[in-house]
Amino acid sequence: MRTLDDIDTIGVVGAGTMGSGIAQVAAANGFDVVMRDIEASFVENGFDAIENSLDRFVAKEELSEDEAEAVVSRIEGTTDLADLADCDFVVEAAVEDMAIKRDIFADLDDVLPEDAVLATNTSTLSITTIASATDREELVVGLHFMNPVPVMKGVELVVGEKTDEGVVDLAHDLAEELGKETWESDDKPGFVTNRILMPWINEGIRAYDEGVADKEDIDKGMTLGTNVPMGPLTLADHIGLDICLDASQTLFEELGDRYKPAYLLKRKVDAGDLGKKTGKGFYEY
Ligand code: CAA
Repeated sequence: MRTLDDIDTIGVVGAGTMGSGIAQVAAANGFDVVMRDIEASFVENGFDAIENSLDRFVAKEELSEDEAEAVVSRIEGTTDLADLADCDFVVEAAVEDMAIKRDIFADLDDVLPEDAVLATNTSTLSITTIASATDREELVVGLHFMNPVPVMKGVELVVGEKTDEGVVDLAHDLAEELGKETWESDDKPGFVTNRILMPWINEGIRAYDEGVADKEDIDKGMTLGTNVPMGPLTLADHIGLDICLDASQTLFEELGDRYKPAYLLKRKVDAGDLGKKTGKGFYEY
């Protein structure tokens, strides 16, 4: 079983918000990284996001320009999954689609050394089901980073039915090496965070849709009233409304009516107003 000392190169599948954030944090903590997405433009967007994020740290004088450049230089971008062949530990952060994730895991299983560990950043889907697409179910674990990855301290560690205890320890040690803290969750829908966060967000949306208060007052009530950094509507925009709807839908399918996504969430996603990333969600950006 591999330990932290055996991990030199980390693979990241997906160069979107989460994948690029994970790649950045891994490289910032000294690992070589291979970041893969299916199209060159997605990989380029990933590098842009990394550079923007690093610029913020430079502006806050938490990083020098040289250090920021060194972080980027440790990341190799690719569209070819075979380029992950030398990775010791891979984190998958592709779209939240079980069929796509299972395909990726089956492909990684073919490409990677047989003792390499596979983690998924899934926010709601079953680790056990994803792992069953491979012949190394005991080496598959959930490592659920929070958005924005370079800033958020917490990582949810999700233990699948077959996950080996040594892999849980390794995932925990790696997260700590990346400057994060973990908590453990069993492989149940939404794990700890989204099981609790999504109903909160949906209730905020329903309160808005049903005219309890205007959106600013709902967010103000929750930020000033309960001391969270963002109210439910601002946080939904920050996460992306499509991501919230996907997560809510999975929870609803698995756990029933109490998780039914708010009607207005579905209508906004249908209209293409996905939050900050499209310039409009509940607020305009
Ligand atoms: N790299 C990347 N993004 C950065 C950053 C950095 N170095 N520093 C700040 N940010 C981002 C913020 O996301 C936000 O983005 P925009 O520029 O697009 O507006 C902006 O920078 C705000 O930055 P500020 O400096 O003004 O704010 P801040 O640093 O005081 O706090 C925050 C920003 C840490 C995100 C804070 O608002 C916060 O903690 N919000 C709650 C975030 C949260 O709950 N995340 C978890 C969501 S749930 C999840 O991710 C799991 C899931 O499965 C859905």
